[in-house]
Amino acid sequence: MSLVSEIDYGTPRSRSEIAVTLTIDGHAVTVPEGTSIMRAAMEMGTQVPKLCATDMVEAFGSCRLCLVEIEGRAGTPASCTTPVAAGMIVRTQTDRLKRLRKGVMELYISDHPLDCLTCAANGDCELQDMAGAVGLRDVRYGYDGGKHPNPGKDESNPYFTYDPSKCIVCSRCVRACEEVQGTFALTIAGRGFESVVSPGMEELFLASDCVSCGACVQACPTATLTEKSVIEIGQPEHSVVTTCAYCGVGCSFKAEMRGDEVVRMVPYKDGKANRGHSCVKGRFAWGYATHRERILKPMIREKITDPWREVSWEEAIARTASEFKRIQEQYGRRSIGGITSSRCTNEETFLVQKLIRGGFGNNNVDTCARVCHSPTGYGLSTAFGTSAGTQDFDSVEQSDVVVLIGANPTDAHPVFASRMKKRLRQGARLIVIDPRRIDLVRTPHAEAAYHLPLLPGTNVAVLTALAHVVVTEGLVNEAFVRERCDWDEFQDWAAFVSEPRNSPEAVAKISGVPSDTIRAAARLYATGGNGAIYYGLGVTEHSQGSTTVMAIANLAMATGNIGRRGVGVNPLRGQNNVQGACDMGSFPHELSGYRHISGEATRAMFEALWGVSLDKEPGLRIPNMLDAAVDGSFRGVYIQGEDILQSDPDTKHVAAGLAAMECVVVQDLFLNETAHYAHIFLPGSTFLEKDGTFTNAERRIQRVRKVMQSKSGKADWEITLDIAKAMGFAMHYDHPAQIMDEIAGLTPTFAGVSYDRLDQLGSIQWPCNEKAPAGTPVMHMNGFVRGKGKFVVTEYVATDERTGPRFPLLLTTGRILSQYNVGAQTRRTANVVWHEEDRLEMHPHDAEQRGIREGDWVKLASRAGETALRALITDRVAPGVIYTTFHHPETQANVITTDYSDWATNCPEYKVTAVQVTPSNGPTVWQEQYDELARRSRRVAPATAAAE
Ligand code: SF4
Ligand code: SF4
Ligand code: SF4
Ligand code: FES
Repeated sequence: MSLVSEIDYGTPRSRSEIAVTLTIDGHAVTVPEGTSIMRAAMEMGTQVPKLCATDMVEAFGSCRLCLVEIEGRAGTPASCTTPVAAGMIVRTQTDRLKRLRKGVMELYISDHPLDCLTCAANGDCELQDMAGAVGLRDVRYGYDGGKHPNPGKDESNPYFTYDPSKCIVCSRCVRACEEVQGTFALTIAGRGFESVVSPGMEELFLASDCVSCGACVQACPTATLTEKSVIEIGQPEHSVVTTCAYCGVGCSFKAEMRGDEVVRMVPYKDGKANRGHSCVKGRFAWGYATHRERILKPMIREKITDPWREVSWEEAIARTASEFKRIQEQYGRRSIGGITSSRCTNEETFLVQKLIRGGFGNNNVDTCARVCHSPTGYGLSTAFGTSAGTQDFDSVEQSDVVVLIGANPTDAHPVFASRMKKRLRQGARLIVIDPRRIDLVRTPHAEAAYHLPLLPGTNVAVLTALAHVVVTEGLVNEAFVRERCDWDEFQDWAAFVSEPRNSPEAVAKISGVPSDTIRAAARLYATGGNGAIYYGLGVTEHSQGSTTVMAIANLAMATGNIGRRGVGVNPLRGQNNVQGACDMGSFPHELSGYRHISGEATRAMFEALWGVSLDKEPGLRIPNMLDAAVDGSFRGVYIQGEDILQSDPDTKHVAAGLAAMECVVVQDLFLNETAHYAHIFLPGSTFLEKDGTFTNAERRIQRVRKVMQSKSGKADWEITLDIAKAMGFAMHYDHPAQIMDEIAGLTPTFAGVSYDRLDQLGSIQWPCNEKAPAGTPVMHMNGFVRGKGKFVVTEYVATDERTGPRFPLLLTTGRILSQYNVGAQTRRTANVVWHEEDRLEMHPHDAEQRGIREGDWVKLASRAGETALRALITDRVAPGVIYTTFHHPETQANVITTDYSDWATNCPEYKVTAVQVTPSNGPTVWQEQYDELARRSRRVAPATAAAE
């Protein structure tokens, strides 16, 4: 095994379609117009020495090392900043150039400490490489680097150090922060020999605006910015390309290793979702994989009040199967079920639903998409015929207007946010529809054209008002609608949205958004060129989540903003494989590829291959499983990689449901919150230990490759296989590739997918079949999957969750950049320095009215329950609206959320809860009782612990 090396072409690729031919060192080379001479030379295999250039950022031309000679031109221009021209004749190696380059390198080396042997970058330093490349043998000006500014090391960031003594002031870091990440946290302070890289106003990295994405570290050619893991472990010796297991962006990484130890994660430039960029979680927060709290041995216990007992895999699997069989004999076939994981691979998820349908003999399977994007499935299938986003991420580069609804990409989908910010800096306009003033409303060098700070729960009203403007002001793209959509349904819809009750003026009273802002935003989206809509859980997690998705689809169809690059309707999916979990048939009514379980022909196909007959009745959704558990008819559940106690609404009801069951089997990395109610714990594997695939928010299927051996001795798919076998439903696979072959054979949209094909193409966006052998970057290009696009009348129905004298404030929830979801992984990394606890954001007006100051403990109460946390006073939220994250179990944020849910899919209404906030002294009684339960349920019997 060796390190996967990627060529650095020095300057970014030109997108021009005009070809230019020139001659470099006697060889003809043809490249797109706008390409630099440096890149053209690299493309034909000639490396021009360089220091300040790297292909992730635009050329800067400061180091003067890349000089070339061009016939007919005076001087020696820098090849990184000089574009090619037709017929140009370039020489990269002449005596004059050699002399000049040596002179440049002499200056650099005379100003650089010569501690190469003990330097962390030894073996991975471009300064070293260039000294060798230009043949530097002597330095006339000495080596002491006496004039070099050295304000001292900055070790404040938990993941990387900044050692200014090694800086060559090439500005690559500054440009990476600006151009790739879009944060503008770095500057070059001082002049001449005094020049030094400075985070913010000469602050420490940790105190600056830096979001720790690591782009600067990756760009740095020396050891100035270096990962602490490299300093500690040394240079990696081999690498494996794999996919991030945090969010739905699906960044591709090279896991760079020494033996079985990860040295660092380096974003892969060939990764089509991230194009070489990453966020703090994917690049740095992988330490949880070896965290001491990982459970590596199976454990069982009779009652949830007993301590755990470590057992062999055989005993744990046998107990799982015998308990499930006993329950089914006693309470019937439908008395057990399972929950698949959006953190696990497609193959693992497919197997869990296969076990449930084939082995348990029912369709009681559901997944966490139930609590996040199930309305996307319903809404987009209804409107377009497919349950997925329409574009690839690259598409945003061709958008002129971006509408962002109920999403906060800089925190939740950071790498896509960086690409979006770049497009905004290039001039695209932005409309933000969100109760909070999210960061994108104002970022460095870009500002939203309109922010519609609507009251939580009024999405449908506002979207319908936008449609009202489009229809009544004659902004409909009639040609598109006539050709691509059902015209009769359009007319019904147009008549509905045109009603005065749907006008911006009427909706302003409901939503709190001024009517002229709604009108202006609608005009901009309809007439501003390519309009693309991106949305998140602020759309779906409402009682009208599915209606909102359909309202978005209506707007896109009415304006013709669908079916080409730069436009579209795009759910920003939360978890790394939530798209895949849905695709794989994790819902109780659907087999893989979103085919209803009642379809005879589809069922017959699965039955023939699996050798069992399948139940044609849809099974229970997660909330129904919990209700049925409380009622006594649902007695056992297999939960793979999902922490429903922390992530699902109305915690007390979830706890009651779990407590009522006779056998709860949890398969996970850590004893999560749900495991407090488990009888059997099966240790799971991290993504670093897995082979398989994830599917990201763009429908992109990407390989997850094993970089280290499974720490528990079994892969997650093998555990499911063992349970199935023990239950008498044998499945046979030697490798996840065979599971994918089965998926492809049974699922038309995956027909062309295989591991060989993925290795060949890098990644594939489904549908991938005979018609689209390389996949489908943009959907609905020549017609909707369902035929004609469907307009649906979206009547606004106010949620039953209302504010009143008892609960006068509206609580909405979300995420923060450094933490991920229930925090099980990120809380076990150094990311806690940025978010040690969940805080309650309140507007200063609401805080003052209640006598609450910054940092005070407050009690947060709804009709479902109460919890306590500390206050953060900010005007990011409007008066009357409060906000919190839910990354820490101690917060118990979901004790507050109610059992209201989307009318079509049961997706919980997390985003609207009427609450009251009052001063408090500390945690509530429930939080204290819960802490005690958690402490008790983590006990492992001393005898087995000692036997370890
Ligand atoms: S880590 Fe990212 S945000 Fe921080 S300074 Fe470097 S490039 Fe900028
Ligand atoms: S820190 Fe690294 S990338 Fe930044 S200017 Fe110094 S040497 Fe160049
Ligand atoms: S968390 Fe998301 S944005 Fe960050 S590196 Fe992973 S996939 Fe990329
Ligand atoms: S690489 Fe061209 S001037 Fe530095």
